[in-house]
Amino acid sequence: MLNAQPYRKGDSMRSLRSNKSAGSLSDRFIKERAKVAAGTYSGYQTQILTRALNDLLDPNPSVTPAFWLRPHVEQEISVLPEADLGRYLFHRYRYDIFPVTKELDDFPPCVQIEPTSICNFRCVFCFQTDPLLTKPKEGHMGQIPLDRFMRVVDELEGNVDFVTMASRGEPLLTKGIEEMLAYASGKFLGLKMNTNATFLTEEKAHAILQADLNTLVFSADAADPVTYPQLRVNGDFDKVMGNIRRFMEIKERDYPKSRMITRVSGVAFDRARQDHAAIEEFWSDFVDQVAFVDYNPWENAYDNDPNGVEEACSDLWRRTFVWWDGRMNPCDVDYRSFLSPGSIEDVSVSGLWTGSAYSHLREQHLAMNRQGITPCRGCITV
Ligand SMILES: C[S@@+](CC[C@H](N)C(=O)[O-])C[C@H]1O[C@@H](n2cnc3c(N)ncnc32)[C@H](O)[C@@H]1O
Ligand code: SF4
Repeated sequence: MLNAQPYRKGDSMRSLRSNKSAGSLSDRFIKERAKVAAGTYSGYQTQILTRALNDLLDPNPSVTPAFWLRPHVEQEISVLPEADLGRYLFHRYRYDIFPVTKELDDFPPCVQIEPTSICNFRCVFCFQTDPLLTKPKEGHMGQIPLDRFMRVVDELEGNVDFVTMASRGEPLLTKGIEEMLAYASGKFLGLKMNTNATFLTEEKAHAILQADLNTLVFSADAADPVTYPQLRVNGDFDKVMGNIRRFMEIKERDYPKSRMITRVSGVAFDRARQDHAAIEEFWSDFVDQVAFVDYNPWENAYDNDPNGVEEACSDLWRRTFVWWDGRMNPCDVDYRSFLSPGSIEDVSVSGLWTGSAYSHLREQHLAMNRQGITPCRGCITV
């Protein structure tokens, strides 16, 4: 029996307030369709782009799933150079539609590379509150060596365009994060980082702004110094606010042409303590976008009761994680890595993504057997 509401990962951003408008994109899509028709792209790219542009330009309500652009995606596209539009749509279509159609090719649409699993916060809704993750003797804490990071980036360049430099920990805690940012710069259309902004020094602000990130997400779920540390335990509201303000001043002063989109993102965890309108109002003076994502009860996924969810997890076709120690993992709800298909020290990202362990997990989900798997049985992500 289903005793939990499924968490629809593809639609987990529940609200977005934005200071910028994307404007109309249809002229650009018409031009792109002509480029596709002129044979600009490979056979596979042409096939995907044709599907994407048909959905965008001639939407047919009777055909599902339909590819459409969520507001934050329209804004990403609005700041893209003309030449990159086809490449972006190819990857975005795979990211949005393959998890629904359960299609697969050689590379995941998105990869999250974990600079470090260590975090200075213990947010109440986060798996960092589980000592079985954070106690050093459990072996999950560490940071990625630069050479491993570089090898992952080398494999992904040209094959994956949505790359996030964050997973279980706080990326700006990582020693040498500046070198990692510099190495990834210019290689991915959708390079992103999530940070709690505690360690956002002036030096790191420059490193981030020089790294051609397309989105920088500051995670903050409150707009006052009382509520903030109740949710973001160990957090210092004034420090984080000061760091974000200084970052935006540096961006405007020294990088006026930067296309980076900045977003404050909150977890919608407790409506009694989080006045969404007031939080959006407050942070929209600082950044381009303020969003709320739905809360996913993942902070103790291994202890959750079997929840009866049988629908397959969409993330198995959308993204993968490369953790600091080289292990690849299908998701971060499984933050203690029960489901790892192997290490990129032995097999490539592509080899693991298309390999037998990952395929077996997908088959189990498609056969509606996730209730037999830990932690999938206590996870609501679909
Ligand atoms: C796990 S954090 C890691 C990166 C960084 N430490 C930070 O807070 O941005 C990545 C994102 O997950 C979000 N998050 C944490 N716990 C969550 C939960 N239970 N449900 C939904 N999102 C969550 C955070 O707010 C953050 O934006
Ligand atoms: S949400 Fe981010 S900042 Fe908060 S405990 Fe988790 S990893 Fe740390």
